[in-house]
Amino acid sequence: MSETELGFSRPETSSGSCHWRSTETLVALGGGRSVSAEQFRRLKNVLFAADNAAARVVVVTSPVPGDGKTFVAANLALSLAGTPSTRVLLVDADLRRPTIDRLLLPRPRAGLVQVVEGREPVNSVLVRPEGSVLDILPSGAPVDDPLRILSAPGCKDLFQALQARYDRIIIDTSPIGPFTDADVLGGMSDGILMVVRAHATPKAMYRAALEHIHSTRVLGTVLNAATKSVLDTESYYGSYYRGYDTTPSPEPPTDNSR
Ligand SMILES: Nc1ncnc2c1ncn2[C@@H]1O[C@H](COP(=O)(O)OP(=O)(O)O)[C@@H](O)[C@H]1O
Ligand SMILES: [Mg+2]
Repeated sequence: MSETELGFSRPETSSGSCHWRSTETLVALGGGRSVSAEQFRRLKNVLFAADNAAARVVVVTSPVPGDGKTFVAANLALSLAGTPSTRVLLVDADLRRPTIDRLLLPRPRAGLVQVVEGREPVNSVLVRPEGSVLDILPSGAPVDDPLRILSAPGCKDLFQALQARYDRIIIDTSPIGPFTDADVLGGMSDGILMVVRAHATPKAMYRAALEHIHSTRVLGTVLNAATKSVLDTESYYGSYYRGYDTTPSPEPPTDNSR
């Protein structure tokens, strides 16, 4: 697939007048001074230090739904975009339960699916919320067979082409416990960032999730929504936990989506 076929010859994204619908969960928006925003800056620094500094394409996954993949992916991308001259793209590749589109107004209707199917050039589906320096590639509509899209040669071509335009690409995906989507995308990335939710993600599911990754390496694990007592418990997730103790919320949030 050539750049022209992908739509890169067009001069600008068609971001139009898109803006963030709700900023409640976008704790890293605007480089805020909250504890949560600080935790994401810390995650960014720890994640991309030394070993992972060259990791440009990062897949975010977790063992089960509701762990906080989208929360971490979106806020990590926002935090990265806060660094001047860093071009950042957030991709919604959770084609089973896409949610990033719900953060935007108007809600984008086309995205990754339509680009890979050759129905839209990428520039016509990329959005950049007003006042933001973060580009977003929405999912498009949910599809019955995500692996058909994610395994298509056009998907690989697309990510390769996007790497020429962005310094960091953060890809939000489906949970790796039940599905292999994240591992397939892992093959197009520089590594996987695992998210577990304190008091919620079963430890056995976490271990199994790590064993499901074959395509790339695990860059680290985010312990999401942790309380101080969890962080004080040295081996909450045993030896698998690699210590990115982001604690975006002082209290585990009420979560009605599970
Ligand atoms: N640390 C957190 N603080 C506050 N809200 C959170 C946190 N982590 C997740 N949430 C909320 O919990 C819900 C589930 O998180 P989400 O990121 O959608 O999970 P996943 O993408 O893994 O299914 C969402 O409403 C999200 O905004
Ligand atoms: Mg999600």
